[in-house]
Amino acid sequence: MASVDGTGASVSGRLRSGDLLHAGLAVALLLGVWHVGGLEVTTGKVSMTEAINGSTVLLPCSYMSCIGIRNLYFRWEYNDNGTLLKYCQAEIPMAGVEPKVEIFHSRVEFVGSSRGNISILLKNITFEDAGDYICFARNQKEKNRNHSATFTLKVVDQLKEVDNTLTVIIVSVLGGVIGLVIIVMVIKALVVHFLLKDDEKNKECLVSSSGNDNTENGLSGAKADNKGTPKA
Ligand SMILES: *[C@@H]1O[C@H](CO)[C@@H](O)[C@H](O)[C@H]1NC(C)=O
Ligand SMILES: *[C@@H]1O[C@H](CO)[C@@H](O)[C@H](O)[C@H]1NC(C)=O
Ligand SMILES: *[C@@H]1O[C@H](CO)[C@@H](O)[C@H](O)[C@H]1NC(C)=O
Ligand SMILES: *[C@@H]1O[C@H](CO)[C@@H](O)[C@H](O)[C@H]1NC(C)=O
Ligand SMILES: *[C@@H]1O[C@H](CO)[C@@H](O)[C@H](O)[C@H]1NC(C)=O
Repeated sequence: MASVDGTGASVSGRLRSGDLLHAGLAVALLLGVWHVGGLEVTTGKVSMTEAINGSTVLLPCSYMSCIGIRNLYFRWEYNDNGTLLKYCQAEIPMAGVEPKVEIFHSRVEFVGSSRGNISILLKNITFEDAGDYICFARNQKEKNRNHSATFTLKVVDQLKEVDNTLTVIIVSVLGGVIGLVIIVMVIKALVVHFLLKDDEKNKECLVSSSGNDNTENGLSGAKADNKGTPKA
């Protein structure tokens, strides 16, 4: 206090803005405390999972409330392409009471506890189970404010996927190699065939031309002479 008095009136403007800041901070803090005190619903840090079709998945959800709970209502819903399907619901009268859960889905099982865990299991999942699951909760002790968290499920057919890619790779590589070999062989056969034919034709031409045409005969004759002279 003494130090504040000592600074004098010259910095009163700064002090005022400082007071304002303090007041703002206090309000923010109060709001924060109030917020923290209320219900918090979470589906975990990584609110998504990938699971193989036919398996059983845990859809995790937990709540926490520093101000305590009274008649806490919660439900799990599945977002079926925009339509929310209710999978289960319950009301917990007070903290520490094991919830009596109404279940509306044949493959859903409640595995939560009386200590804020309201997770469910979804059994024998199919590809149609993929999508968003909403964990909703409302605490009567805080004027029924709505809270919810979403968990995303991805369904995969891992084995089939791996097999498929492997098969595709093997088939395409083998097919490519075999196709290339076949193409090369065909080209080779064709080339050899035509070359041989051309040779034969050329020979025929040479033979026939040598007999008929004199102008060409001269050339070929010259060649024949060139070839013939070293030998002789
Ligand atoms: C996953 O689905 C495929 C068909 O989409 C099926 O053939 C396969 O058996 C399923 N896997 C399991 C474990 O149910
Ligand atoms: C989801 O909704 C869209 C448009 O509303 C529709 O075209 C699509 O077929 C729906 N999908 C399923 C799986 O029902
Ligand atoms: C899940 O699948 C197994 C084996 O196919 C079956 O015995 C069991 O009854 C199924 N569970 C549910 C809840 O559908
Ligand atoms: C909630 O309960 C389930 C089943 O016992 C457990 O697997 C899960 O880890 C629990 N979640 C939390 C946040 O305690
Ligand atoms: C809370 O959710 C209910 C539906 O469950 C809705 O009728 C109500 O308007 C919501 N309240 C607020 C404050 O969003």
